[in-house]
Amino acid sequence: MQNAPAFRTHETAALPVAGFRHPADLFEALFQSIQGGEKHVRPPLELTPGSPFLPFIEIGYALRACVEDKSRRDYLLQRLLPHRGAIIGTLPASLLPHGMLPRAAPLPGFRPLEQISDAELRAWLVEDGGLIYGELQRFELENYFDAIATLIRPGGVMVDLGSGLGKVVMSAALAFPFQRCIGVELMGYRHALAVRRLDALLALARHGLAALPTPLAPDTPLQLPFGGEASGRHLLDLASRIAFIEADLFKVDVRGASLVFMYSTCFGPLMDAIAGKLAREMQEGALVSTTTYPLNHPAFKLLCQFPAGTVAWTSVMLYQRTGALQALSPAEPSVSYEPDPVEWEERVRQQFAALDSNA
Ligand SMILES: C[S@@+](CC[C@H](N)C(=O)[O-])C[C@H]1O[C@@H](n2cnc3c(N)ncnc32)[C@H](O)[C@@H]1O
Repeated sequence: MQNAPAFRTHETAALPVAGFRHPADLFEALFQSIQGGEKHVRPPLELTPGSPFLPFIEIGYALRACVEDKSRRDYLLQRLLPHRGAIIGTLPASLLPHGMLPRAAPLPGFRPLEQISDAELRAWLVEDGGLIYGELQRFELENYFDAIATLIRPGGVMVDLGSGLGKVVMSAALAFPFQRCIGVELMGYRHALAVRRLDALLALARHGLAALPTPLAPDTPLQLPFGGEASGRHLLDLASRIAFIEADLFKVDVRGASLVFMYSTCFGPLMDAIAGKLAREMQEGALVSTTTYPLNHPAFKLLCQFPAGTVAWTSVMLYQRTGALQALSPAEPSVSYEPDPVEWEERVRQQFAALDSNA
């Protein structure tokens, strides 16, 4: 890893793939096909009895009512202030015009903010942050793959916790000789989009494989895009090497994972719970990577840390599960970001003003 190449700093325009003369052309076309998921249109959450997001919508409505009624904004500020460290950005994303809260009328029984406890509010803010969607850009993911390439052993299982539209899962399956790459995503519509994108990827792979002038046989040596060699099975078996699961990451066992990836920038307040889960389940030697937030648990040793602006716009950390828990010293408590209250309030009021001027 000391010899990792200089980091890419921006996206270079991808030239359309004109034909499939070599497997490298197919790799490039496949990588190109899975970009841009961050631009997808976010549909409103389903406001139907039985929707798993109903409790989230109820509290979202209570908060949004206070944004929309200027006379209640001071009360809203007072309620949010103690939890400002759990908010990603200034006002929670769901309260902004592009947020995913539906516009339909509240269901009977929805409570106003006065009847919602501080604990419920805090849990809502954590969930709101976790639902924000973003993807690393292609050049950032390439930096990341270069950085971890020497640590990836053939045949392991990669898991992306919070896999969104599946970009990292599909990219990792193309880039490395993992036996399986699995994405776990909470939001049904994102999971469905990932499955659709996988279908398109597999159709393109079938088309490209059929077009190669020299057919790729299962045992033909194949040069992988980030170094290392595999065989033709790497591409021929793509369908069985990628899977997406619609589930809460806390309910999926990652015992068999050799690498757990998390674009954890939106998981700040969840990180301690995630670290505990991974420590209970992961095997000695397995790897975990996080963005922005550390994995503060004595079961994990920091292997390398890439500051913001190197591998990606935000910091990227790589950890390894170490030996028996009993032998380890206690973890450092995690330090979470707590904005200055005065500066925070000023930013929120500016955002109110911006919302009013766009109304
Ligand atoms: C920042 S996005 C990252 C998407 C993808 N990993 C990538 O890097 O392209 C984080 C994803 O985590 C999902 N998420 C949030 N909480 C989750 C949970 N408890 N279980 C599973 N997924 C979750 C969000 O819906 C979102 O799609």
